[in-house]
Amino acid sequence: MTVFGTRPEAIKMAPIILKMNQNLDKFCPITVLTGQHREMLDQVMDIFKIKADYNMHIMKSQQTLSSITTSVISKLDEIINETKPDVILVHGDTTSTFAAAITSFYHKIPLGHVEAGLRTWDKYSPYPEEINRQLTDVLSDMYFAPTELSKNNLLKENHDINNIYVTGNTAIDALNQTVSDQYKHSVLNNIDKRHKLILLTMHRRENQGEPMRRTFKAIKQEIKKHSDIEIVYPVHLSPAVQKVAHEEFDNVERVHLIEPLDVLDFHNIAARSYFIMTDSGGVQEEAPSLGKPVLVLREDTERPEGVTAGTLKLVGTDSTQIQANMDLLLDNQDFYNTMSNAKNPYGDGKAAEYILNAIFDRFS
Ligand code: UD1
Ligand code: UDP
Repeated sequence: MTVFGTRPEAIKMAPIILKMNQNLDKFCPITVLTGQHREMLDQVMDIFKIKADYNMHIMKSQQTLSSITTSVISKLDEIINETKPDVILVHGDTTSTFAAAITSFYHKIPLGHVEAGLRTWDKYSPYPEEINRQLTDVLSDMYFAPTELSKNNLLKENHDINNIYVTGNTAIDALNQTVSDQYKHSVLNNIDKRHKLILLTMHRRENQGEPMRRTFKAIKQEIKKHSDIEIVYPVHLSPAVQKVAHEEFDNVERVHLIEPLDVLDFHNIAARSYFIMTDSGGVQEEAPSLGKPVLVLREDTERPEGVTAGTLKLVGTDSTQIQANMDLLLDNQDFYNTMSNAKNPYGDGKAAEYILNAIFDRFS
């Protein structure tokens, strides 16, 4: 049974579900959505043509962390009682992930954690994800760590080495299925071909409000300074994000505020961008494969592999840092080339296969 509820979990669980569907002699997959997200989750399910067996439909406008947790636990209880799965798989660090993990423990069902072992070791950054993933790892029986570094984090917490598998990140598996040379999108027609496209996303809870506003103001200063840049910003549907994005960017020239892109569009537009600015976790994993520099709008990251590889630079939400680093990428070709020539540290795009082989070997 796979249980997930938000856009990034769906993107990174999709390769596993699709691979199980190709091997029905070995697996009997049950796909369960918490429905923590709605439209943004549906987009992923549609693109990968995956049908859910159950959907808890829990999403509410301005939902709280407690309401997500309690709704998932009570509804997953019923689904588990009905289906009695042999193994439950969760992904990453959302509140759906943690709630599904604790529910599987209550039912004594073996739990596999995909994308296990990421850490900042800072309780409130990112919030609540750092604690969601630590708690999920406490509850797990099999750990699918994307890199050696995440494996080492798990070892520091005394998890048994025999239960840890370094598989790469399934984000790379997904990316291999979406990016194409033939791709076209109307947003690209609206951008002057001589201009540089900067792709922006920002949604994290700890950035909502003042940090987000400060970041957008800094970007507006850069738009005034550089007449050859255009910002494409697919705005997350959270009301807290929508409000600040529209207040700061409506009617600002060379800023394209658009609806969240489906993953095929997002990956292809990212592949055509000059660079990316984001506080997203998943985007930090995808950028090295695409050869795109990323200014990370956060104080720290659980994806230091991308910083070491040279693709990611942490700039936080300080105006001076943001503007200085945008200037460097736009004006200093050597700086740009160093960031865009980094190697992908997240595996060979076969993570789903490695994960399923490990599960099959253990349970068959
Ligand atoms: C959640 C995860 C975060 C992840 C992000 C991916 C938690 C606590 N947070 O944060 O780790 O990075 O997803 O995007 O698990 N909304 C819609 N339609 C949608 C999706 C969201 O309208 O399809 C709106 C709803 O009003 C909802 C709000 O967005 O209440 C916030 O959604 P929520 O899942 O609580 O938080 P995210 O910021 O999306
Ligand atoms: N993404 C997308 N459409 C968008 C923005 C992002 O499909 O408009 C994809 C992106 O490629 C990545 C994932 O969504 O795979 C990241 O999700 P998000 O930033 O919402 O969450 P996080 O990774 O920070 O948890």
